[in-house]
Amino acid sequence: MAKAKKQPAKKAAAKKAAAPKKAAAKKAVAPKKAAAKKAAAPKKAAAKKAVAPKKAAAKKAAAPKKAAAKKAVAPKKAAAKKAAAPKKAAAKKASAPKKAAAKKAVAPKKAVVKFGTESEQLDKFFHDSLKDIYWAEKNLAKALPKLQKAATSQELKDAISEHTQQTIDQASRLEEVFTLLGKKPQAQKCDAMEGLIKEAQTIVEETQKGSNTRDAGIIVAAQKVEHYEIATYGSLVQLAKVMGQDEIAAILGEILEEEKTTDVLLTEIAEGSINWQAKSESSAAGSDDEDDEDEDDDDELDEVEELDEADIEEDDDDDDDVEDDDEEDDDDDEEEDDEK
Ligand SMILES: [Fe+2]
Ligand SMILES: [Fe+2]
Repeated sequence: MAKAKKQPAKKAAAKKAAAPKKAAAKKAVAPKKAAAKKAAAPKKAAAKKAVAPKKAAAKKAAAPKKAAAKKAVAPKKAAAKKAAAPKKAAAKKASAPKKAAAKKAVAPKKAVVKFGTESEQLDKFFHDSLKDIYWAEKNLAKALPKLQKAATSQELKDAISEHTQQTIDQASRLEEVFTLLGKKPQAQKCDAMEGLIKEAQTIVEETQKGSNTRDAGIIVAAQKVEHYEIATYGSLVQLAKVMGQDEIAAILGEILEEEKTTDVLLTEIAEGSINWQAKSESSAAGSDDEDDEDEDDDDELDEVEELDEADIEEDDDDDDDVEDDDEEDDDDDEEEDDEK
């Protein structure tokens, strides 16, 4: 029994002796693999590192190329735009004169006046002048009542009121003149009278309500209107006589006298009292009054609004029997030319 037990002890001892050898062999192999791995890892890393810079370098190298390419393209586009822009601008400039030239080419067509005989030209001028003064009378008939309302003295209010009735009647008599000429009554905007009416409105706006200075200003404005009418009717009377239109000359002469009488009356009112009262009013005015004046001016603005331009412009639109449009007028004239 003791021999049998001794044999396994030998095998165990042999195993023990062999085990360290295997372990040593494994240990000896393991470092080799690790060393190999370690040795290989730096190679891969080095390889990666070596590759990465290449890629990066390639990217870097490529990036500038792209950027350069973009830059190269961008200037081309910009250059193309710049090159195109002047072309467009040049095209516009080139077309603008064409358009302007086209307009100029068209404009003279309007500007071309068909002159008839001397007699026909005078007839047309006389007719056009009548249209102007007819417009003036009709618009004065609307503007005068507003001046009457704005005036301070009863004497001036009465004078304006009387002349308003005359003005309405004068417009009716001008319609008779149109009829005698074989024409229908037609108003054509009178720029001069429009300006004079606006000036009267401004005077009311810039003077104190209830003052003699306002009356003095209204008289100045009204006399400018009368002088314009006197000049117009005086000239038309003479032309009518030359044209052999005695009946028309008589009607226009009658109106002329009314305008002259009104002018004289306005002068009398101004010189008789109002101008002097305005002078003393101005001398008596103190600094306190100036403050009041400002307040009154504010009140007056409301009143002036009643004398707005719309009243002037829309006047003849209200009258169905009166044509007031310049274009219509031109059309009529063209028709007349065609008839001739
Ligand atoms: Fe008049
Ligand atoms: Fe008048």
